[in-house]
Amino acid sequence: MSSVIEVFGLTKSFKRSIALNNISFSVEKGSITGFIGPNGSGKTTTIKILSGLLKANKGKVAVLGMNPWDNPKIRERISIVFDKLYFPQLNTVEDFLYDIASLYQRVDPEEIMNEFNLERFRKRKLAELSAGYKQKVQLASALLNDPELIIADEPTANLDPTARNEFNSIITNLNKKKGITFFISSHILSELERVITHVVMIDRGRIVASSSVNAFLGEEKEDKLVILVDKPQEALRALSNYEARISGAYIEVKGDIKSIVNAIDEAKVKIIMIRRSSLDDAFLERTGRNFQDNLQ
Ligand SMILES: Nc1ncnc2c1ncn2[C@@H]1O[C@H](COP(=O)(O)OP(=O)(O)O)[C@@H](O)[C@H]1O
Ligand SMILES: [Mg+2]
Repeated sequence: MSSVIEVFGLTKSFKRSIALNNISFSVEKGSITGFIGPNGSGKTTTIKILSGLLKANKGKVAVLGMNPWDNPKIRERISIVFDKLYFPQLNTVEDFLYDIASLYQRVDPEEIMNEFNLERFRKRKLAELSAGYKQKVQLASALLNDPELIIADEPTANLDPTARNEFNSIITNLNKKKGITFFISSHILSELERVITHVVMIDRGRIVASSSVNAFLGEEKEDKLVILVDKPQEALRALSNYEARISGAYIEVKGDIKSIVNAIDEAKVKIIMIRRSSLDDAFLERTGRNFQDNLQ
């Protein structure tokens, strides 16, 4: 399997602090890799180094096999998406996309506007668009160089849940249809859980986990399950042999999923929803801290 990003022993210090402390990870070609960590953990610093905007102090960085700092031309094969659209806000959607397209002359902006349903906004100024549409325009513009890899720094941080879901489903489609690899950072674990195939977790400038999502969640020795049932007290009684407890509307229980489901079925309790332990739980187990507690 080939990697589009390889980082080895990367360290970056600012005057007073070490932002990245000897981090190593890779991003598999064709994956949607989530780069997940609380605020201040070093995500933007890493992404700036990967984009060639910032120089590392130590370590090796290869993006499509090249060091981004020494090879600015790499920007022709990758795109960077930021949390906001940092472009002249008085430009119209159409002018903005035509300007970017003319830099590369590879992709017809009309095709992209059509694909993103942006035609009816073509004469609007960027400033007049909603946050969700601005990000959609930014993602559309990121396709105009026909990139192999898109690196996105918290692209949905300023969006409401609906716009966020829409943005994430566009990413899934681009990954499936065009084979574009995505490396996307976020400080919100749960929203990316459904989108990503791989995860790199960072905390206080160190990598705490890096693997496929399935392997990551499966690493826990026992399944930790969250179950919603119609009769919680009866379900709890049926699970008396397990480490089980009621948490809000849910039952949390550890053990083998099949035998747990059987025990609940035998008690004639209906399972409304069941899920494996989430990335949040996995973060807690690796760092001893609750992910949400880190939000600033
Ligand atoms: N230009 C800078 N000068 C000094 N410190 C910085 C600079 N940029 C980032 N840092 C520090 O580096 C750490 C990581 O920041 P950042 O990469 O922005 O984290 P994240 O994107 O995960 O929120 C933080 O402690 C931040 O204060
Ligand atoms: Mg950041």
